[in-house]
Amino acid sequence: MSYANSRIPESAQQGIHENLARLVDKHLAEPFRKPFADYNRAALEAALAGRPPGAPLILDAGCGVGHSTIQLARAHPDHWVIGVDQSADRLARRKPYPAALMPTNMVFVRADLVDFWRLLDEAGLRLARHYILYPNPWPKIGHVTRRWHAHPVFPFVVRLGGVLECRTNWRVYAEEFAFALGRILGAPVPWETFEAPAPLTPFERKYRDSDQLLYRVVTELAASPSGEQA
Ligand SMILES: C[S@@+](CC[C@H](N)C(=O)[O-])C[C@H]1O[C@@H](n2cnc3c(N)ncnc32)[C@H](O)[C@@H]1O
Repeated sequence: MSYANSRIPESAQQGIHENLARLVDKHLAEPFRKPFADYNRAALEAALAGRPPGAPLILDAGCGVGHSTIQLARAHPDHWVIGVDQSADRLARRKPYPAALMPTNMVFVRADLVDFWRLLDEAGLRLARHYILYPNPWPKIGHVTRRWHAHPVFPFVVRLGGVLECRTNWRVYAEEFAFALGRILGAPVPWETFEAPAPLTPFERKYRDSDQLLYRVVTELAASPSGEQA
């Protein structure tokens, strides 16, 4: 497949999954208690080590090669920006700036978000902004629980508060993400298409250059009780 010929996820699923409401309700009712892996605890410590005291937090969840993390750190110089990805290879890839020009208010850590999100919550931390940019869509109907909004970790994502933004090139993912959020919040959450004249991530650039529609869900979450403000 050539660069500007990337495909929209193909799926037999054309609308919100029939089990999504039940899954979200179940995940709200039965807290997720999978034990934490040590490397994820170490990743949280590393992620916070350089944070100036009281700096509001931004999480770039599944940051891939981290171009969005860098752009977010440049746009929010008074925030501490954490880019998390499970792939050491992606995190290590060459950045679009020389080291001397990289923002200093950010950090990259390798971690599994399934633990990292819960560890942030356990530490009483809250986010000012939270980006989930082009998550793996898992378009097969039987893979629904691998989509973040249908995963048992999703209630923790919501608890972290802040302005939560998810972007995707699969309409169904945006619809489902908004539906699951709305189900947890008890009020409808909209999704929308948008233009990306200055793409935030390589995936966004590739989809835009392939003339695909881009979708996003942006919600301001009320902060859940915690030990600190974002
Ligand atoms: C489709 S890529 C998008 C990367 C980037 N946000 C972008 O738009 O260019 C999805 C990313 O999510 C990461 N990812 C998937 N599951 C993850 C998990 N459980 N924990 C951490 N990262 C994960 C993958 O390694 C991958 O880099």
